[in-house]
Amino acid sequence: MSEIASTDPEGVDGVRMTWNVWPRSKVEASKCVIPLAATIALIRSHPDIPQLPYAPLRCKTCTSALNPFSRVDFTAKIWICPFCYQRNHFPPHYNAISETNLPGELYPQYTTVEYTIPHSDPNPPPSPVFLFLLDTCIIEEEINYLKSALGRAIGLLPDNALVGFVSFGTQVQVYELGFSDMSKVYVFRGSKEIPKDQILEQLGLASASGRRPIKGAPFPNSGVSRFLLPASDCEYTLNALLEELQRDQWPVPPGKRPARCTGVALSVAAGLLSACVPGTGARIITLVGGPCTEGPGTIVSKDLSDPVRSHKDLDKDAAPYFKKAVKFYDGLAKQLVSQGHVLDVFASALDQVGVAEMKVAVERTGGLVVLSESFGHSVFKDSFKRVFEDGEQSLGLCFNGTLEINCSKEIKIQGIVGPCTSLEKKGPSVADTVIGEGNTTMWKMCGLDKSTCLTVLFDLSSSDRSNTPGAVNPQLYLQFLTSYQGPDGQLVLRVTTVTRRWVDSAVSSEELVQGFDQETAAVVMARYASLKMETEETFDATRWLDRFLIRLCSKFGDYRKDDPSSFTLNPSFSLFPQFMFNLRRSQFVQVFNNSPDETAYFRMLLNRENISNAAVMIQPSLISYSFNSLPAPALLDVASIAADRILLLDSYFSVVIFHGMTIAQWRNLGYQNQPEHQAFAQLLQAPQDDANAVIRDRFPVPRLVVCDQHGSQARFLLAKLNPSATYNNAHEMAAGSDVIFTDDVSLQVFFEHLQRLAVQS
Ligand SMILES: *[C@@H]1O[C@H](CO)[C@@H](O)[C@H](O)[C@H]1NC(C)=O
Ligand SMILES: *[C@@H]1O[C@H](CO)[C@@H](O)[C@H](O)[C@H]1NC(C)=O
Ligand SMILES: *[C@@H]1O[C@H](CO)[C@@H](O)[C@H](O)[C@H]1NC(C)=O
Ligand SMILES: *[C@@H]1O[C@H](CO)[C@@H](O)[C@H](O)[C@H]1NC(C)=O
Ligand SMILES: [Zn+2]
Repeated sequence: MSEIASTDPEGVDGVRMTWNVWPRSKVEASKCVIPLAATIALIRSHPDIPQLPYAPLRCKTCTSALNPFSRVDFTAKIWICPFCYQRNHFPPHYNAISETNLPGELYPQYTTVEYTIPHSDPNPPPSPVFLFLLDTCIIEEEINYLKSALGRAIGLLPDNALVGFVSFGTQVQVYELGFSDMSKVYVFRGSKEIPKDQILEQLGLASASGRRPIKGAPFPNSGVSRFLLPASDCEYTLNALLEELQRDQWPVPPGKRPARCTGVALSVAAGLLSACVPGTGARIITLVGGPCTEGPGTIVSKDLSDPVRSHKDLDKDAAPYFKKAVKFYDGLAKQLVSQGHVLDVFASALDQVGVAEMKVAVERTGGLVVLSESFGHSVFKDSFKRVFEDGEQSLGLCFNGTLEINCSKEIKIQGIVGPCTSLEKKGPSVADTVIGEGNTTMWKMCGLDKSTCLTVLFDLSSSDRSNTPGAVNPQLYLQFLTSYQGPDGQLVLRVTTVTRRWVDSAVSSEELVQGFDQETAAVVMARYASLKMETEETFDATRWLDRFLIRLCSKFGDYRKDDPSSFTLNPSFSLFPQFMFNLRRSQFVQVFNNSPDETAYFRMLLNRENISNAAVMIQPSLISYSFNSLPAPALLDVASIAADRILLLDSYFSVVIFHGMTIAQWRNLGYQNQPEHQAFAQLLQAPQDDANAVIRDRFPVPRLVVCDQHGSQARFLLAKLNPSATYNNAHEMAAGSDVIFTDDVSLQVFFEHLQRLAVQS
């Protein structure tokens, strides 16, 4: 069996683990300090994943799917399940099976396979549904940006997509697009919560008998044809509607915020979808330009003298609307999950709009979120376009996902951190302690896409199993079964089965050490710390991370007791302290530098992106460009700044091109335009090209900052650099380097402290 490949760390399975060799017992696991966890990029595409046009064989006892780790008796036509050791007979259509004639799912290299179950249903697969929800309490200029973004989006939709349209301000307007001559509008008051029955009643969607629509009927009621139209039929209607769309007409008194009923608008949208397309992939695409101030979901009063809650207010319990609003969005999340629908939020405003409160509904439904300053900003415009793009640039939006996890019986699942909802399906592998979405072996993802990555946290069973049968198996197994509906409506069941070795870590810690994945561990710790900061009052993330790091270094470092200078770390761990140093300084831990909306946004992306992307959020990458040398990685340190260099910083949410002083002067003098300075022109262009390549592939599109040394925008770079040069030793720095005026400890001081504490007896 092959160990983890080093070139593509996620490999064909999209799985990475903090530990790739597992300690045998719960006690030994707790001594490993960093929790046992796996991250899985659920539906990442890979050329080596076979498509099998049939349904999988399932173990009759534990329901896990047949996989390459099953032992097969070809003569008796029996397979033994690696999870529960059940012997299963192959069904008759597997009769031809032999060592030389294997079905795809038994090939040793096919640890991930996709079963594409042929459609037996005579009806065509359900069409994707896009319900646009548009804020009209925004200035004329923003409305115009929105109109053009929407116009472009509608042009990109596949013809079979169903489109609906709702606008909101002081009230909610639902547009009946299928109404023949002119558009008909249903209006809802925004001031108080409206029960679902009443919403349906008012829209004329309540079924006479009060029963749910009949399953399987293509149009359970007329709702679909009235409110949701195929994109190909309604482009004209929608464009005409956008043309006429105006700002909310209700007067806003001086010193007040507009009355904006985002919460009621979302309830109405969810109600509409519940009646029209229950259980099929639909997304509510919310475009919001300010805070909810009216009705349920309100996050701030209408008085402009009342600022929107800050982290300080949340900390001091001085945010009177917060808990109530979160409770409302939590209820909305439950409704959407039960209907199988997704909430996407595109928030564009200079101030906060309530992303922190809405987070629960976005994350539990697997929705997209983009935060920007304006609907005219490239972060919004380019990201929004990507949602509707096809082909290479497509996000690969899928629907109706469920994930089931099966594992060897010693393993317990504590929960998942990431965009999903627990389906509360209990089973023997459910752990007692819950982390994130837990208490289950099955999760729902109403929306998921190519980049969706979840983190599963494990525990080991505490019972002594040294004398139980099967305990001698040196391998452990995990199986991830993800079923979903692809962008083309195709139903897919993706099965990934992975194995790792158990090791008696009390006897040999060498193997354990070799199996440590520092990058994954850093990301898992960041996700875990963020979760705790959100859910535990008075949780001190910095101290908690420091304690973990000190324990880890005490356990796995080489040193003589009480001699800090003797301390060394095995290469398997050597990058980890720096990750923790940067995590402590990052936006995930130092939340007071940002608004609660920004923090919620950063965390949602931290939790859903793959390990390489999440690692860049914690520890940005820095590349240096200079004459006479190739672009090269540079230390994340102020010492990397030089007058004749250009630096390219990628911190995921922003990409910064930073010109040293001399470079900036030459550029201002226009040297790049002179034929004899071609090399300078190329030097200026190279980081630009590299930045564009990053921006093109990323969703949400990052903010591009181009700045010069000593310019005001330079703070975007400086904030991310290690302050090796501080006030005190500034005079020792080489000419041209920059000085950060900060009380932060430098990486060097941090290391010194760490070594001292780790070797303490
Ligand atoms: C959604 O997924 C569930 C579980 O995989 C499946 O039973 C159901 O038929 C799917 N619904 C649709 C509309 O495809
Ligand atoms: C496998 O998953 C199914 C569905 O979640 C569950 O019923 C079963 O108990 C699991 N078996 C094992 C061995 O984890
Ligand atoms: C887990 O399930 C149990 C019983 O089903 C319930 O009492 C408990 O509150 C649940 N825990 C969480 C964190 O959901
Ligand atoms: C992580 O995601 C990015 C796209 O967002 C992709 O380019 C990259 O290859 C992924 N990394 C791995 C290891 O899959
Ligand atoms: Zn089994």
